[in-house]
Amino acid sequence: MVSVTSVHLDASHTGGADLLFPIRSTFLPRQDGEFPRGWTGTRCMNTPFSHLFAAAAFACACLPAAHAEGDAAAGKLLYAARCAACHSLQFNGVGPTHKNLIGRRAGTAAGYDYSAALKQATVVWDPSSLLRWLADPETFIPGQRMSISIPDAQQRADIVAYLQLVAGPQAPTPAPLEK
Ligand code: HEC
Repeated sequence: MVSVTSVHLDASHTGGADLLFPIRSTFLPRQDGEFPRGWTGTRCMNTPFSHLFAAAAFACACLPAAHAEGDAAAGKLLYAARCAACHSLQFNGVGPTHKNLIGRRAGTAAGYDYSAALKQATVVWDPSSLLRWLADPETFIPGQRMSISIPDAQQRADIVAYLQLVAGPQAPTPAPLEK
C-alpha cells in the first residue's frame, strides 16, 4: 500500500499523461491520490480471502507429499510385523524374496512360482509402484495372490522407506522397462 501510494505521488510530479497511468488506473481508483471511501475495505475483504484460497491450494498440493515422507525405522518394525511372515530379504518363502526388490520387474525373483498375473505384469518396483501395490494389490495387479494390504498411508510410506534402504539394487540396474 505505502509503496503504491508513493509511486503515484512521484508520478504526479511529472504532470500530464504519464507512463505510470496503467499502474495508477489499476491500483489507484482516483487520480488525486486519495482512496475513495470503502476502497481499503474492499481490499481488506478481498485480500485475506484470496490469500486463504492460495493457502488452501498450497496445503492441498503439499499434503500428499507430506504423507509420502516415510520413516524407515518405523517401516522396519512394520515389515517384521506385516511382511516377514511371508517375505524375507534373503530368500523365497510364501512370498518371493525382497532381495534387490527396488528396480526389479514384478514377477521375476528367480525360483519363485508366481501367479500368472504377476509374471505378466510390466510393473517395475519403485517407491510409487510399491505404494500402490501395498494400498490394494488386487486393484493394482488383478489376479495376483498376495492376500494382504496396508490401508494406512503413513504405514505404507514407512514400509517403502525401509525397503528403499534394505532392498535397493545391489547389482547394476537393468535398462528401465515400460510401466
Ligand atoms: C500372507 C503372506 C504375505 C504377506 C504377509 C505379504 N505378502 Fe507380499 N506377496 C505374497 C505373495 C504370495 C506374493 C506373490 C503374489 C503373486 O505371485 O501373485 C507377494 C508378492 C509381493 C510383492 C511382489 C514381488 C515381486 O517379486 O514381484 C511385493 C513387492 C510384496 N509382496 C510386498 C509385500 C510387503 C511390503 C508386505 C508387508 C507389508 C507383504 N508383501 C506381505 C504374500 C505375502
